Amino acid sequence: MARVLVTRKLPDGSLDALVKGGHDVVQRPGDEHWSHADLVQEAAAVDAIICLLTDPIDEEVLVSGAAGSLKVVANVAVGYDNIDVGTAHRLGVAVCNTPGVLDQTTADLAFLLVLAALRRSSEAEADLRGGRWSGWGLFDHLGLDVHGAVLGLVGYGGIGREVARRAAGFGMEVLHHTRRFTGLPGYVDSLHALFSTADAVSLHVPLTKETRHLVGRHELELLGPEGVIVNTSRGAVVDEEALADGLETGTIFGAGLDVYQNEPAVNPRLLRAPHLVLLPHIGSATVQTRRKMASLAVHGACEVLAGRRPPNLVGP
Ligand code: DGY
Repeated sequence: MARVLVTRKLPDGSLDALVKGGHDVVQRPGDEHWSHADLVQEAAAVDAIICLLTDPIDEEVLVSGAAGSLKVVANVAVGYDNIDVGTAHRLGVAVCNTPGVLDQTTADLAFLLVLAALRRSSEAEADLRGGRWSGWGLFDHLGLDVHGAVLGLVGYGGIGREVARRAAGFGMEVLHHTRRFTGLPGYVDSLHALFSTADAVSLHVPLTKETRHLVGRHELELLGPEGVIVNTSRGAVVDEEALADGLETGTIFGAGLDVYQNEPAVNPRLLRAPHLVLLPHIGSATVQTRRKMASLAVHGACEVLAGRRPPNLVGP
């Protein structure tokens, strides 16, 4: 029997597998947050941690855990930049995430942002709600056509491919760029060529040293005054100051963001920038998908505790 720390409330039934397996669940009543200091302390006393992307599982937490009997950290998210995976592996702690189960849901939201950024629907709605709509006008709230536009995908994993399917249904031409040749139709071998060709670019890469500020001033200039950028991956993939400049000066047409560099804080310049759709990191936020994510993370932890290799193991 193992002790499993579950840092936040999970959807009903998600912990059934742990309980059936006879494990003890350590969880705070309600949805009370664990401070970093509390995580460091508790890690030493548990065999597994099931956490969210808002819990920093850094070297200090992992070293404390490994000094005890910590075997696995399972993130209820596909992205795992909140976990120091290198240190976890060095200390023999397995890491699990939730690949696959959120692809379609996140792709729906990314495509929603492509539509909303090109058609400026958020601004139009805000004008209506704010009493600034004085009637139909030939030049009011002009956006750009979705059909016939070229969508460039940066990253072509499960989510990127689902976005491609949606875009094809809307009559868009779809290109993609990844560091490794995919051998698939629409592959573009240079990031800059993709930004120069596309009318809308949607980002689907994890946050790593290489992808931090992957999109900066130069990429936005290549996208141009009739281009939009959409980010549902991680905020720091985009240089937010460059994006704010680009929107303020019209270097690009518009943008749609679901993620931010310093969540939950949002760069105040972005809050004021024109032609920008902002959502609060809800890419995977549906009842069904959040259930699947929680169950998959719990399953990963149970498998490691049982000495088996889970399907959702990160890295070796
Ligand atoms: C993830 O899973 O990494 C998303 O950002 C939240 O679903």
